[in-house]
Amino acid sequence: MNIGVLTGGGDCPGLNAVIRAVVRRGDQFGYEFTGIRDGWRGLVESETVKMTPEFVSGLLPVGGTKLGTSRTNPLKSEKDTAAVINNIKQLKLDALICIGGDDTLGVATKLFQKGIKTIGVPKTIDNDLSGTDFTFGFDTAVSIVAWSLDRLHTTTEAHHRAMVVEVMGRHAGWIAVYGGIAGGANVILIPEKPFDITEVCSYIDKRRQRGKCSSIVVAAEGAYPKEAGGMITKDKALDAFGHAKLGGVGEFLAKEIENRTGIESRHVVLGHLQRGGTPTAYDRILATRFGVKAVELIHEGRFGRMVALQGNAITDISLADATSKTKTVDAESLRIAEIFLG
Ligand code: F6P
Repeated sequence: MNIGVLTGGGDCPGLNAVIRAVVRRGDQFGYEFTGIRDGWRGLVESETVKMTPEFVSGLLPVGGTKLGTSRTNPLKSEKDTAAVINNIKQLKLDALICIGGDDTLGVATKLFQKGIKTIGVPKTIDNDLSGTDFTFGFDTAVSIVAWSLDRLHTTTEAHHRAMVVEVMGRHAGWIAVYGGIAGGANVILIPEKPFDITEVCSYIDKRRQRGKCSSIVVAAEGAYPKEAGGMITKDKALDAFGHAKLGGVGEFLAKEIENRTGIESRHVVLGHLQRGGTPTAYDRILATRFGVKAVELIHEGRFGRMVALQGNAITDISLADATSKTKTVDAESLRIAEIFLG
């Protein structure tokens, strides 16, 4: 059995741990592995590397992805789709493990419907894929947000300022909510709930009247004010899956807070710091469990499935279900966060 493995979309800590687990577990079954370079681009252009247990040695704690990644969408052109299907035949791939978010797994779903034996491993720093409670990389990102907030609290307090911290989270505010709870944020803004600038300012004002001289606002990059009617973007260009480059809500809000309240304000964009570097122990373990399960699904001949974490059990759901809708922040997490705001 020759199994192709690719990593697509934005990287996140734990991708290499999945690759390692896939190869190590598969080696026990006598499987061979073909690594595909840079996500779907490597299958369009047939750029691959043979993956052995030696190839994956030492990968467990390493951030990024040894296979490289891209946001190539092979379904955008019929020529690229045909090239992918043809290259799968030419490379004699019996199955394909696709490690990615809704875009990469959306392609895996379509290919499965065309008869390719695909398996999905959920990867999104935003933690917004349905059917799995958590994705690897999310815990690392939340830890980085908490670490950052600990430091920002002291400098913000020293200067009696308001600090807006922009974190990742395109359509769902999981990182903002979990990071905000862990780091003691005073205001948390998420894409699921467009915010009112006047309300945010009055929150900060009231805090000051209570004698608290600093405020930390955590805003997901996809959060936006009601009056703007949509997300704040860096430029108008869209990627191959139709996503705009987000960014700017932190800067925008810090200016508004300063203008409206007179409180000196600053903003920090945590950006790709949240995605780079070594995964936490939790993410290494989750990524390892996902990788092992992906190979075991192949061994059982169960394709068109995505491995998933439900409770503390590793299970699997259909790829089509996993990619059908975005998992937004749950009511219970919001309830807990709200208790500590203000
Ligand atoms: O999709 C995950 C994500 O990290 C988003 O939170 C963010 O908007 C985007 O990727 C950033 O993408 P890029 O690495 O292409 O700048």
